Amino acid sequence: MTDLAPQTIFLKDYAEPHHWVETVHLTFALSPRATRVRSKIVFTPNDKNTGDLILNGEQLSLKSVTVNGAYVAYDTTDTHLTIKQADLPQEPFTFEAEVEISPETNTALEGLYMSSGMYCTQCEAEGFRKITYYPDRPDVMAVFTVRVESELPVMLSNGNPQASGDGWAEWHDPWPKPAYLFALVAGELLAHAGQFTTMSGKDVELNIYVRKGDEDKCAFGMQALIDSMVWDERVYGREYDLDIFNIVAVDDFNMGAMENKGLNIFNSSCVLASPETSTDATFERVEGIIAHEYFHNWTGNRITCRDWFQLCLKEGLTVYRDQMFSGDMRSHAVKRIEEVLLLRARQFREDNGPLAHNVRPESFVEINNFYTATVYTKGAEVIGMLRRLIGDEAYYKGCDLYFERHDGQAVTIEDWIKAFEDTTGRDLSHFQQWYSQAGTPRLSVEETWDNGTLTLSFTQSTPATPGQDVKKPQVLPIMVGLIAQDGTEVVPNTILEMTESSQSFTFEGLSERPVASILRDFSAPVILQREMDAKTRAFLLANDTDPFNTWEMGRMLAKDTLVAMIVDGTEPDPAYLDALKTMLSDTRKDPAFRALCLALPSQDDLAQTLTDAGVTPDPMAIYEQLEELRHILASAFKDILPALYADNDAGAFKPDANGSGKRALRMAVLSLLTLNDGGAAARNLFETADNMTEQAGALTALLSAGTGQEELASFYAQWFHDRLVMDKWFMMQVAVAAPLEAAHIADKLTQHADFEMKNPNRFRAVFGALQANHGGFHAPDGAAYKLLADWLIKLDPLNPQTTARMCGAFETWKRYDADRQAMIRTQLERILATPNLSGDTTEMVSRILAA
Ligand code: ARG
Ligand code: ZN
Repeated sequence: MTDLAPQTIFLKDYAEPHHWVETVHLTFALSPRATRVRSKIVFTPNDKNTGDLILNGEQLSLKSVTVNGAYVAYDTTDTHLTIKQADLPQEPFTFEAEVEISPETNTALEGLYMSSGMYCTQCEAEGFRKITYYPDRPDVMAVFTVRVESELPVMLSNGNPQASGDGWAEWHDPWPKPAYLFALVAGELLAHAGQFTTMSGKDVELNIYVRKGDEDKCAFGMQALIDSMVWDERVYGREYDLDIFNIVAVDDFNMGAMENKGLNIFNSSCVLASPETSTDATFERVEGIIAHEYFHNWTGNRITCRDWFQLCLKEGLTVYRDQMFSGDMRSHAVKRIEEVLLLRARQFREDNGPLAHNVRPESFVEINNFYTATVYTKGAEVIGMLRRLIGDEAYYKGCDLYFERHDGQAVTIEDWIKAFEDTTGRDLSHFQQWYSQAGTPRLSVEETWDNGTLTLSFTQSTPATPGQDVKKPQVLPIMVGLIAQDGTEVVPNTILEMTESSQSFTFEGLSERPVASILRDFSAPVILQREMDAKTRAFLLANDTDPFNTWEMGRMLAKDTLVAMIVDGTEPDPAYLDALKTMLSDTRKDPAFRALCLALPSQDDLAQTLTDAGVTPDPMAIYEQLEELRHILASAFKDILPALYADNDAGAFKPDANGSGKRALRMAVLSLLTLNDGGAAARNLFETADNMTEQAGALTALLSAGTGQEELASFYAQWFHDRLVMDKWFMMQVAVAAPLEAAHIADKLTQHADFEMKNPNRFRAVFGALQANHGGFHAPDGAAYKLLADWLIKLDPLNPQTTARMCGAFETWKRYDADRQAMIRTQLERILATPNLSGDTTEMVSRILAA
């Protein structure tokens, strides 16, 4: 018997399982192509929902099944094993099974697989069913005991080590958990060890396990782990709960990292770091992801999701927590700007296209397709808004209540919100709509001044998204401040709570008309539409006390300038150039902040901005005008660039906020300086740099200026043995390629001996860079569309998850002209017509085509 084609699953159909699990014993006899998994599971019938025993299982070769040690009748399909209720005891029983699996041939990197000779697992969301038959759903939480048998020196699983001997090791995890948090690792690994004492005085052994050769890239990650443990105790009162915490670095991994209980598994690119091989951006990412996975121990593991529709319950909250941690470790102002850049680039883009969905989706075919910017980053924005609306004190009280009430449970967004309703006495039902209405609200504002009273009149509306034509007003916390003409702040940060389509707020008793700073700190994830002249923008750029809005004003000036250049060839306003120059030279301002101010809007951002203004974006014009503006800035700032470059030498490398800020500004300056000095400074830096940030920065500056081929070759000769640096080598060539060359360069790189399509990092280095190179991806000949489609078709049978994710490259296709749309449609239809296309990719391409 076989099951039907992939089905759509609906939130409204949720029902408890027929059986709960008390305990699980697993024994793994590891072997590359014939691993035996023996399971012994104690089930209890669920009296609230009785029925057959239904277990998930895929790609398993079943050897035996018993119930209470005796033969039992069962039925299997490609996806399930079922035992009739009539054939089962109506009291707790022991189910035992043995299956065989083949980790070595598992290229999907889901379930148990091999990477560079080591065994590892990835079970979230539904990978455990590729390991053994089990109720693979997050509401089934159980205590796991695991025995691993192999000749490999290191054998790890969740929880605490229980016993070990020659060729075996046993692990016991006392905390009930869903199967998606199961993990197993075995290999020839080295441990970088550390130690932590929790706030109640318990000692915890810490390890980062890596392959030989990577031992010297663990120290930073270890410190980040310790900092995260301290932070979660101090800020949320959350303590670690096992004797040991292990992290393992794996080269082949579909995503960033995974929070398996007591045994986090990381993409090596997200945990390994050293000054010579990693950029500041990598250090920052490593710190943030280590924190993220660690914080999941409470928000995700101790309290988990009832079903996968609730994914944002753990992801939105955990992203919010890691953002606050990074802000505390570095700079909140800089971090907030980076978050908004990412939110706009990924989540607003998603919300504006065919893949738009609720923070809590209501249906899916393949849950892996919903690990999205909307669930993660908009999910985090919703938590930030909640905190703004109820205040810090109520926020932390509500979190305490949530932890206390739901520890050990699998819960829903309703449970989360209820904790805050009970803490504050407020009705949060309207606020909760953020989870069930997709789309980015447009917020417009008009100001009137009348005899000492300033009135701000807001109107909000959200455009239709797939399956949701009618939108209701959202609850918006709008943070506002007022600034007098002399630059002093007359009204400090004030939260206006908007709940209706149109609403006015007044400020009375003002002696003169102030300038309003609106949506400070980006207090709600909306698109603010506000008519403002360049003079007012420049005034706020110079005088606003809110760092986000200060940056935003510079950003708006840059965007207005570029849009005018693209649409009708208008020369940049000298007021913009002057304001930017003043900002850059203001040494009282944080260098990291100044670097962000100097960065121009991305091509993709401009394409969306033009689309919003009703103009069909021409990718070539966008590319050319951005290049033109870079040259204009280089020449307008000619006299200040050399000094800025020299003064921001950070000296000895330290990956902290201070050093990385200086390097960020210095590299942004170098990119312009290279247009003036023929590359002299960049070449010199490339030769002398002792850290990857500056070495790669110099090389990128040269490549962006159309030179640097010699340096590119010597970079290869220096680093060909280091796979993570080689990912950068692949990536940067495609990322900065001129539009008409990008597809050709990417194509050539796929023929390079070091290109390995089965390694997601390498595949993404080339094709992630190709889609991020807006002009190159949308080159008029359509070569990049075709190249990407060719490779997605090749990758799909090997790794559906990474293939499906990369399809997002096409999600904006409806923005462009008819020719481009026709070329993209051809490629999407070609992908969809591929025989045996995975369910993952089928779902993504169908949703994109339905636009
Ligand atoms: N829970 C992991 C994290 O956010 C990510 C798992 C992603 N899984 C997936 N199938 N896409 O840290
Ligand atoms: Zn997460």
